[in-house]
Amino acid sequence: MSSYDVIVIGSGPGGYVCAIRCAQLGLKTACVEGRETLGGTCLNVGCIPSKALLHASHQLHEAEHNFAKMGLKGKAPSVDWKQMLKYKEETIEANTKGIEFLFKKNKVDWLKGWGSIPEAGKVKVGDETHEAKHIVIASGSEVSSLPGVEIDENVVVSSTGALALTKVPNRMIVIGAGVIGLELGSVYSRLGSEVKVIEFLNAITPGQDGEVQKIFQRTLKKQGLEFQLGAAVSGVSVKNKKATVTYKLRKDDSEHTEEADIVLVATGRSPYTEGLGLNTLGIEIEARGQIKTDAHWQTNMPGIYAIGDAITGPMLAHKAEDEGMAVAETIAGQKPHINYGVIPGVIYTHPEVASVGETEETLKEQGRDYKVGKFSFMGNGRAKANFAADGFVKILADKTTDRILGAHIIGPMAGDLIHEICIAMEFGAAAEDVARTCHAHPTYSEAVREAALACGDGPIHA
Ligand code: NAI
Repeated sequence: MSSYDVIVIGSGPGGYVCAIRCAQLGLKTACVEGRETLGGTCLNVGCIPSKALLHASHQLHEAEHNFAKMGLKGKAPSVDWKQMLKYKEETIEANTKGIEFLFKKNKVDWLKGWGSIPEAGKVKVGDETHEAKHIVIASGSEVSSLPGVEIDENVVVSSTGALALTKVPNRMIVIGAGVIGLELGSVYSRLGSEVKVIEFLNAITPGQDGEVQKIFQRTLKKQGLEFQLGAAVSGVSVKNKKATVTYKLRKDDSEHTEEADIVLVATGRSPYTEGLGLNTLGIEIEARGQIKTDAHWQTNMPGIYAIGDAITGPMLAHKAEDEGMAVAETIAGQKPHINYGVIPGVIYTHPEVASVGETEETLKEQGRDYKVGKFSFMGNGRAKANFAADGFVKILADKTTDRILGAHIIGPMAGDLIHEICIAMEFGAAAEDVARTCHAHPTYSEAVREAALACGDGPIHA
């Protein structure tokens, strides 16, 4: 039995960041992980591998559509799927090994196995029970399927199976037009699959700014993705390695079926807390399965904290990381703070979609007086040169004070550009502060400045 100041359960972005920060703050720390490699869903079967496949398939798209225009002649490359999967695996390995290195460097012990909490102050891993003054649950989330849909990770796959298909399918049906469905749907569409996305709501990417939703759907449609909105999938059957998807149109209740080689179920995720012993311990759980925590991420049991996908809030790696750092600082006696109003969201398709803060829809709901500063990438020299002029930057600011309330970007490097607005919002900046900041030319960032200018006297290049 070993004794620690902190034991973190789970080594995803929430858990490993928490463990490293605890160690940096002088706490004797261990992290429990049952997978063969560190990094959780994000590094092993989520963010990182999907980005590798998005990158590779985007290169193919560029070769097929834009190379000849730039005078790069020759046949477009063909897909060596085995090699692409190898590249994906190598990317995963480089990242998971990186965390192992950071654990060693910071003297965080990796307790290999699945952890449970037999009583407050104790964590059991395999046959061993360790003592911990503080326990942080960072156990993440799992795929939540639909009634009538059984995921076999062979024909009917979750994002995990979709990252390791044996071949590029001829036809894929994606259930759910959320982040996972559109990112992975894009990958296979670019690699040559016929992809149809079936979505329950009447718009894609729920919660996104309405204008972005429309342009985003139009752009993806141009790239070859098919959409059936307003349709509730009620079942999937598999026969001879072919799937039949049944759905009902919400407008008239009519029932339809479609066939596919692969069905990707991307209808959300739910907190993963199995085997931790939370019920026996008496830890409070919310209605949708999340562990209940207070404003300091502490559960109803003193000394037991929870962060990331296992608690309430957006299921995003960076939200989990921030909570991981904040809990470490809390345990070390500091008084950290997370501004949940400034957590960016990014969809890594091409073009990328990024957003932070309020949308026009939420501002209207709140009855707030706001103004819109919008700038199209068509007026951005760099974007035009790079065949990336589809999309826009939209900044929402308070009508009276000019304070930035939110921003929505669809276009090149949107996921990087959004951080300029995040920083501005953290500093309580006005749109004019961004507009008066010198931006290098020629960069995509100039479009952000132009949108800020559009909140005032107007942009120059529109
Ligand atoms: P999601 O919650 O983003 O989207 C699920 C979609 O499925 C919704 O649009 C919903 O209306 C639809 N749906 C639900 N039931 C349906 C039915 N019966 N028939 C048709 N459509 C139905 O969930 P997703 O994409 O699975 O992602 C899970 C989590 O992972 C999300 O919280 C997401 O934010 C996170 N994630 C974030 C990424 C990023 O930040 N780039 C990448 C991947 C995942």
